[in-house]
Amino acid sequence: MDKIIIFDTTLRDGEQSPGASLDTQKKLEIAHQLARLGVDVLEAGFPISSPDDFRAVQMVAKQVKGLIICGLARAIKKDIDAADRALHPARRKRIHVFLATSKIHLKYKLKKADAEILRLAVESVKYARNLVEDVEFSPEDASRTDKEFLFRVVEAAIAAGAGTINIPDTVGYAIPEEFGRLIAEIRENVSNIDRAVLSVHCHNDLGLGVANSLAAIANGAGQVECTINGLGERAGNASLEEIVMALRTRCDYLNKTTNIRTAEIYKTSRLVSKLTGIMVQPNKAIVGQNAFRHEAGIHQDGVLKRRVTYEIMRPQDVGLEVEGGLVLGKHSGRHAFSERLKKMGFHLSPAQIDKLFFQRFKQLADKKKEIFDEDLITLVEEEISVTPKVWQLVELTVASGNKVTPYATIKLKSKGKTFSKSSSGDGPVDACYKAIDKITGIKGRLLDYSIQAVTRGKDAQGEVHLLVQAKGKEISGRSSSTDIIEASAKAYLDAINKLLYRK
Ligand code: KIV
Ligand code: ZN
Repeated sequence: MDKIIIFDTTLRDGEQSPGASLDTQKKLEIAHQLARLGVDVLEAGFPISSPDDFRAVQMVAKQVKGLIICGLARAIKKDIDAADRALHPARRKRIHVFLATSKIHLKYKLKKADAEILRLAVESVKYARNLVEDVEFSPEDASRTDKEFLFRVVEAAIAAGAGTINIPDTVGYAIPEEFGRLIAEIRENVSNIDRAVLSVHCHNDLGLGVANSLAAIANGAGQVECTINGLGERAGNASLEEIVMALRTRCDYLNKTTNIRTAEIYKTSRLVSKLTGIMVQPNKAIVGQNAFRHEAGIHQDGVLKRRVTYEIMRPQDVGLEVEGGLVLGKHSGRHAFSERLKKMGFHLSPAQIDKLFFQRFKQLADKKKEIFDEDLITLVEEEISVTPKVWQLVELTVASGNKVTPYATIKLKSKGKTFSKSSSGDGPVDACYKAIDKITGIKGRLLDYSIQAVTRGKDAQGEVHLLVQAKGKEISGRSSSTDIIEASAKAYLDAINKLLYRK
């Protein structure tokens, strides 16, 4: 079976999702997880676009090993130079040059003629090839480009040294059969196409990103560009997990494979959702909360008799071990706990496991009857978070009601000392934040706040995501607890600790 190269662009196109801005630390966390997932190429950002993006690409290039790290550049020397500098520490690097080729983009955006585009494509690829071995070229808006012109640009880019030609459906306009045919025609009409890997990059404006990618694969594409949870510009990109699981589940038909460790998929999806603050819709294929749940009586009956009646994939194939995710409870021991974490792909030191088990797990199990995979993921993510906990919540008491002024008393610990303050507020959460501000001396302004249940049931953990403005910076925070006021206070402290860490 042929291997399809998985090019992940969560940190570049995915980060272009409205509201999904990721700082360097978060990008690094995601990049390490993408490496564990087994992506072949990781597009870490667009270095010229901002100093933060430059730094993030540089850090990923320095720290994340075993795969190709890629940086995006327009067909402009200063972009290509910036990408080259940012990628410098990577052992395997790729510069991805893009240039629009459709009439619409040429006329209204670039105001350039065909001949000039052809010249720029060739010059920029040659320029990039002088800096790095591995160059990818994308004729932006390829699916709306005149075919004859597209063939000429692709041929010229390959002749100039591009090893990968990526065909973007930039505005998600293509229909699968049509897009598949375009790929077949490129292969038939570009004389030197055998010297390059043909790639596709499909947006999801009509909900066809994955279908178009699969049609392209069926017609000879060797690489797909995709993102975790389908994040990306506007309606997003083709989702990595959907493409990979389609290839795996229907390898009888598609006859292709990938290097992806599918058991890492669920964890990766959760991490990306947490760090971007963009929730996954419950009915999302593969990673949605309902993706492996059966509600109808006839379906439940069928699954109980034989899973294959209504399940085409096993939950454990994507890293959800047990249907419904029920794994541990109050009476589970350390051994079962650590085995469970190992199976979920977390490789922690014995000291980390002890801390997690005797402190966090026991505490949670006292509050919550059933502990699901999602709960364990949340526990681990909080434990291995790289931000030092300068301020830690020790105790919280709130009084609230529709006839009293909400009031909170907060006790925090820092460097071995305990501090306590009280405050009233517009609500119990506001009162907590004001009391925290009094202790830390940092005045935060809440810009955004959202809460979501991590698991199901009355005792589900609430997960709070928020955005705080403090000391002229905007910082995100997140935390979870069975008590939503506690989760809110801890999420606020998470943001404050990040602010102090960055300083
Ligand atoms: O959608 C697009 O065309 C892109 C290119 C930069 C590949 O993201
Ligand atoms: Zn794109």
